Amino acid sequence: MTTMPDKTIAEHVRDRYAAAARAVQAGSGCCDTGCCTPLQQDGVTRDLYGADQTKTLPAEAVLASLGCGNPTALIDLQEGQTVLDLGSGGGIDVLLSAQRVGPTGFVYGLDMTDEMLALAQQNKEKAGVRNVAFLKGRIEDIPLPAGSVDVVISNCVINLAADKSLVLRDAFRVLKPGGHFAVADVVTDGPVPDALRQSMEAWVGCIAGALDVDEYMQLLKDAGFDSASVDITRRYRIADAGIDTATLPSGWEAADGKIAGAFIRATKPITTSSAVEETALAVTSDGCGCSSSCCR
Ligand SMILES: C[S@@+](CC[C@H](N)C(=O)[O-])C[C@H]1O[C@@H](n2cnc3c(N)ncnc32)[C@H](O)[C@@H]1O
Repeated sequence: MTTMPDKTIAEHVRDRYAAAARAVQAGSGCCDTGCCTPLQQDGVTRDLYGADQTKTLPAEAVLASLGCGNPTALIDLQEGQTVLDLGSGGGIDVLLSAQRVGPTGFVYGLDMTDEMLALAQQNKEKAGVRNVAFLKGRIEDIPLPAGSVDVVISNCVINLAADKSLVLRDAFRVLKPGGHFAVADVVTDGPVPDALRQSMEAWVGCIAGALDVDEYMQLLKDAGFDSASVDITRRYRIADAGIDTATLPSGWEAADGKIAGAFIRATKPITTSSAVEETALAVTSDGCGCSSSCCR
């Protein structure tokens, strides 16, 4: 957990990704906050999808790809499943998942940034898919009922949240018993300088908020998940992440090689202890089994 206030983090994150969505809409490749990654992909976002996948998608969905992995290639989605993508951005993983679950399945994309939601909606219409809905909300307070989702995916988003334990507990709540959590995220593998952890530029660039591998495992366990694993897929140098290193505190170089892309998997047990269920429901405001936003 960070000492930076949650509101400030969420606002900075929203500004950053609103600008990224506008850059894709404008086709400019650069945006007013200095993030130039959507159309000029960096060492984190580059080459995550095969041409066989991207050729089936609207160009803007591919250009808006800001992930650090490809969850749809790493989880075996089945026809008829319900999938939830936490922080769906321009919708690339939602659209790919929709192909896999077919017309009898359904995919929700959840994002808090209006500009990203507008871009995703546009991409959905261009792709002509019906089994998809984009929802506005925070991944800490998912607007879906308990036990309603077979698979939770996400791509480079959980590191951006101020309180990861809230996110993991609410993901656990919305999963059906036996459901799968399968996300790509940035993690740290070894100590990272405190000054870098406090840098908002590094936070919105998916570095400063990254959980350490062991802490990720512990938080998954604390949320009630079984069979948790964190597999590192790529190691990064800070400069790979498209961050202007001139804006970072001195000593940032010590983090080179300790930042990594990872695939994180876990399963919600078929039967959960009553203590875990109570904790999951306590995440909601009224304990109705639905997040506070969907019970209103
Ligand atoms: C790095 S981008 C990744 C987008 C997408 N998953 C992809 O692979 O292209 C992060 C996205 O997560 C959204 N996001 C970040 N924090 C969030 C939160 N706490 N709740 C909901 N959405 C969030 C941002 O608005 C942005 O669209």
